[in-house]
Amino acid sequence: MTNVAVIGSGTMGNGIAHVFAQHGFAVALIDINQPALDKALGTIGKNLDRQVAKGSLSEADKLATIGRITTFTSIADGVRKAELVVEAATENVDLKLQIFRDLDQHAPQEAILASNTSSISITKIAAVTKRTDKVIGMHFMNPVPVMKLVEVIRGYATSDPVTARIMEISRQLGKTPTEVNDYPGFVANRILMPMINEAIYSLFEGVAGVEEIDTVMKLGMAHPMGPLQLADFIGLDVCLAILRVLHDGLGNPKYAPCPLLVNMVMAGRLGSKSGEGFYSWT
Ligand code: CAA
Repeated sequence: MTNVAVIGSGTMGNGIAHVFAQHGFAVALIDINQPALDKALGTIGKNLDRQVAKGSLSEADKLATIGRITTFTSIADGVRKAELVVEAATENVDLKLQIFRDLDQHAPQEAILASNTSSISITKIAAVTKRTDKVIGMHFMNPVPVMKLVEVIRGYATSDPVTARIMEISRQLGKTPTEVNDYPGFVANRILMPMINEAIYSLFEGVAGVEEIDTVMKLGMAHPMGPLQLADFIGLDVCLAILRVLHDGLGNPKYAPCPLLVNMVMAGRLGSKSGEGFYSWT
């Protein structure tokens, strides 16, 4: 496999394009407007510079990586030659369903269609296509060039050969793939989000302050970031959306989002991307 298309050039999309291009794949990076694509290429360039600075990548490999990425503002043009499409658009069900309808229409018949969704059902996404056996979850972690995991999610109809192919491609990217089944939150967020929610409840109920909660988890449990800092990094709107998927899909009150999280999202305090969350990022 040589041709990959990535839909969406935000934090996850540009990281996914970076990693595929760095490992020799020709990448078509697709977004709705050219300024977003130019910004993504700038981010990829900066992240490649970090790797050059620490000696894990040569300047020639950096230039070759950038040279393997072509940008497109149309799905139809961008996926024409794709053998694999990885969708990393905004975490919105209706948007993803429309993208997969378009992909099914424009991508070659044999192409595998993967989604980087953090919690939307792969089975539901696959159902809008005529190739349910070739639709799969390929859930990368942020920052994509650094984090080793790919959570590979099998939808209800995903075939064994397609799953095996995605496991193999993930290994070619230097990642460790882990196969899981399609239930709300999969594994990563089914475990991560209740921890983040509990940290927010601890703050809400006055058990401790922001820095104290994060220090306990960082130094006591050897987490690289405390749960409140991690929530700011992921985006509080994304955390809330995932908790709602868990709450609705599993029907257990233990997943109910903390009212403080709901209020912060309504107030537009979304974490590092909005400048304010549990911490100030300005
Ligand atoms: N691209 C390339 N390299 C990067 C990078 C990027 N975007 N971001 C960081 N790095 C590299 C740095 O160059 C540095 O490399 P060396 O150690 O080899 O010098 C290394 O990563 C560490 O970076 P920093 O020194 O700048 O900072 P740090 O030590 O605080 O690490 C971190 C940053 C890797 C993000 C670390 O804090 C961490 O692991 N945080 C937790 C991340 C996490 O849990 N991610 C999962 C979020 S959940 C998710 O993504 C899925 C979901 O569905 C919600």
